[in-house]
Amino acid sequence: MRNIVFAFSILVCSLPAMAQDQAFNYTVQKSVTARQGAVASAHPLASLAGLKMLQQGGNAVDAAIATQLALAVVYPSAGNLGGGGFLVAHLANGKELAIDYREKAPGRAHRDMYLDDKGAPIVKLSLDGHHAAGVPGTVAGLFASLPYGKLKMAQLIAPAIELADKGFVITAAEARSLNNLRKDFENLNTRPVAFVKQNEWKAGDTLIQKDLARTLRLIRDKGAAGFYQGETADKIVAEMQRGKGIISKADLKAYKAATRIPLRFPYKGYTILTMPLPSSGGVILQQLLGMTEKYPLAQYGFHSIAAVHLMVEAERRAYADRAEFLGDPDFVKVPVKAITQPQYLASRMQDFNPQQASSSTKIKAGQPKESEETTHLSVTDAQGNAVSVTTTLNGGYGSRVVVGGAGFILNNEMDDFSVKPGSPNMYGLLGTEANAIAPGKRMLSSMTPTIVLQGNRPYMVTGTPGGSTIITSMFQTIVNVLDFGLSESDAVNKPKFHHQWQPETVYVEKGFPDSTVAGLKKMGHKVDNRNAIGRVELITIKNGRITAVADNRGDDSAAGY
Ligand code: GLY
Repeated sequence: MRNIVFAFSILVCSLPAMAQDQAFNYTVQKSVTARQGAVASAHPLASLAGLKMLQQGGNAVDAAIATQLALAVVYPSAGNLGGGGFLVAHLANGKELAIDYREKAPGRAHRDMYLDDKGAPIVKLSLDGHHAAGVPGTVAGLFASLPYGKLKMAQLIAPAIELADKGFVITAAEARSLNNLRKDFENLNTRPVAFVKQNEWKAGDTLIQKDLARTLRLIRDKGAAGFYQGETADKIVAEMQRGKGIISKADLKAYKAATRIPLRFPYKGYTILTMPLPSSGGVILQQLLGMTEKYPLAQYGFHSIAAVHLMVEAERRAYADRAEFLGDPDFVKVPVKAITQPQYLASRMQDFNPQQASSSTKIKAGQPKESEETTHLSVTDAQGNAVSVTTTLNGGYGSRVVVGGAGFILNNEMDDFSVKPGSPNMYGLLGTEANAIAPGKRMLSSMTPTIVLQGNRPYMVTGTPGGSTIITSMFQTIVNVLDFGLSESDAVNKPKFHHQWQPETVYVEKGFPDSTVAGLKKMGHKVDNRNAIGRVELITIKNGRITAVADNRGDDSAAGY
């Protein structure tokens, strides 16, 4: 292991010394052990950008900012300037943070904006193109995080600028996803974009993003105003006008990240620190862990029929509550206390039958779609700071609209509102009035950046992309470590399952034990296979030893020293 860490240190130090115009190349590192600090993210170059900040005297917040900025360049399907996210941190001085930079509905948005004249949802309108974009929050979030770091933005943004300017080598998977979306990029954009070239992309090609480098320089030189005002704002609004979108200069200028109180609750002697509303993630995670806590999961066994049945039944009940109650707390009153109280959670499980599946009420719901492109990064440092960040454009490459001349992709986050109460969104999730569209409102999210504390010290730092499956992946990652005692690597990489009340199906990943599937079916569960669930980044800190694991489901990579 030591060799691996050493190899990374060499690579990190060599990054700035690379020859002019030479594209960045890299190798993926799935697991590292370290003593001082570590970063795990969706892309090796982004993890290395974060590690570089730690090695230059920055703390975990600095590393998280630099990693996010690098992801905006090297992981354009989900890393972003034109989307939003959440940061949860436990700082060494005891301070706990939740920074909310979720996108907001533009001022001209209204409740029925995605309905046709018969009141039916026009699905494409909230997913594809200019109309699907909410007012981006990421840049405001980075600047709201900055006071908790030690370095200046110019230093944190430098790796991202260099990566955009010189380019980086793309993998076969990245080439495939860019080729698959070529038509969308061509049809939905009003200007040529860096993601389309004359011939098909292939592994080993270099992606250079000069427009994006210019936008990053404006942010470096002018701060958040380099994005929300002046040249970049002009470009966003011009793009909106060309594509009949509705984000205005006033929307951009008014955007502010919100500082929230992290959700904090006990679980089996540990403390879970996670994201409050407008993410449903923390509330639903608290419900899931609360509903299952009194059952002997460890005794049932990992992937046993009894454990999976129990967890699925808790998921069914929690996701029903998600649909009913949750929305932006700045706009609707959400009974968070009531629906997370132990008595309430016990009452929800009163009709749980350990031998038989229960039934979700019959509400029409869609199938979860494949694209669940959000991205997560976990960071720790030598001082004891821990930072967990999940950000998103919503679908892969968001709206697929690149702001002309500015080089970044806009989100399609408006689809996370309940476009029509009772109609499913792209993840098959249902919602009610609580998550209806209103100007300036934040759409409900499932992103669940989470830190588990042992005493007052970080023990696990974790999170994942995956749309509606984010919360159930976090549920499993936590119990995999704390209840089932799995290694970090198994906790992340073993096949996962997911149930979200509607549709009434347990989804299992490839490799899930056949005997458990058969047992669940016997109890009356409908079970279906599906594509990969999530891409978890997990760091644990046990007796001063840091283990960082990046999910095998993608090119995710860990770095440490
Ligand atoms: N766009 C996915 C989420 O926020 O949950």
